[in-house]
Amino acid sequence: GKSGYDHYMCKEINEQPRAIRNCLRGRISEIDASVSIDEIGDLARPERIQFVGCGTSYHASRYAARLFRRRGIPATAFYASEYDAGAVPVNEETLVVGVTQSGETADTLSAIRDANRCGAETLAVTNVVGSSASRETDHVMYIRAGPEISVAATKTFASQQVALLLLASTLAGDYSRSLVEALRALPDQIQSILDGSRASEITDVYARSDAYFFIGRGYGASVALEGALKLKEVTYKHAEGFPGGELKHGPLALVGDRTPVFAIVTGESATGKMLSNIKEVEARDAPVIAVTDSPSAVESIVDHVLRIPETHEQLTPILANVQLQLVAYWLAHRLGRSIDKPRNLAKSVTVE
Ligand code: F6R
Repeated sequence: GKSGYDHYMCKEINEQPRAIRNCLRGRISEIDASVSIDEIGDLARPERIQFVGCGTSYHASRYAARLFRRRGIPATAFYASEYDAGAVPVNEETLVVGVTQSGETADTLSAIRDANRCGAETLAVTNVVGSSASRETDHVMYIRAGPEISVAATKTFASQQVALLLLASTLAGDYSRSLVEALRALPDQIQSILDGSRASEITDVYARSDAYFFIGRGYGASVALEGALKLKEVTYKHAEGFPGGELKHGPLALVGDRTPVFAIVTGESATGKMLSNIKEVEARDAPVIAVTDSPSAVESIVDHVLRIPETHEQLTPILANVQLQLVAYWLAHRLGRSIDKPRNLAKSVTVE
């Protein structure tokens, strides 16, 4: 059941600390900060890596591709429905990773089959033991999030991000103590966001807005895409997410006083340019809500702050996303939506 929560979505958002502890169990060493994933012990560092996924799993794929590139392994994320294994270079040195919570998404299975046909090594990163994706790939890594009932993916996204970060560290052979310590602290940090989030009251102020925009850069870009997807799914309101740099190339035409902008302000690489993006939208009278680990950098220029604890840069998207999950949930709640079963959507999309 829903254990006292009004909706499974809320229950599953609140289960994230436990889901992440499960995902980490036995995979990070207390002794030497090394990372190991038993199920894929025989997988070597690939020459290049391609991720395929849909929706939220595509956003996790984008995050993962950046993690691998930062570790010197060429990596690309594809929408599974757009994957073209015959045209991108794929051979036995290529690892193709199907990121799919359910393991049953038709487009993702089809991309995995193409990759298999082209001779790639394949890996499924999935939540469901025995799923089609787990059976049709050479290797499988489980994210161990536990069953997710709500159509909107929440805890499985967090667990995918953590699992893919472990995968990146393992395959690249880069074990940093600061990263492992940050991973170990992550469940408690998520708990502190869940306990103290102001998402509900801030969201109330903007319940009647025309549209909601989400911007982020670098590791924050995939969170911006995911924040918008979650919001549109459960609230039926228009939402768009894009990298902050794209603002001037079109979306800015829609920005005004009835379009709040959620800005992910984390990480040194993003901060300076993100502050310029914030000024650009404010000049068009848009309210700005910053999701940030450095409130002092933005407090004086934004309307509201959704704070996240400080962590390793590569974990900031996981924390920032929790605040955006709460934004989507509380807005849908306030609008009286059918949160766990949004109209027109299915939990598992088994047609292409
Ligand atoms: C969004 C959502 C969908 C799924 C997508 C892929 O909340 O749930 O976008 O992420 O349908 O599903 P899986 O991961 O099962 O392949």
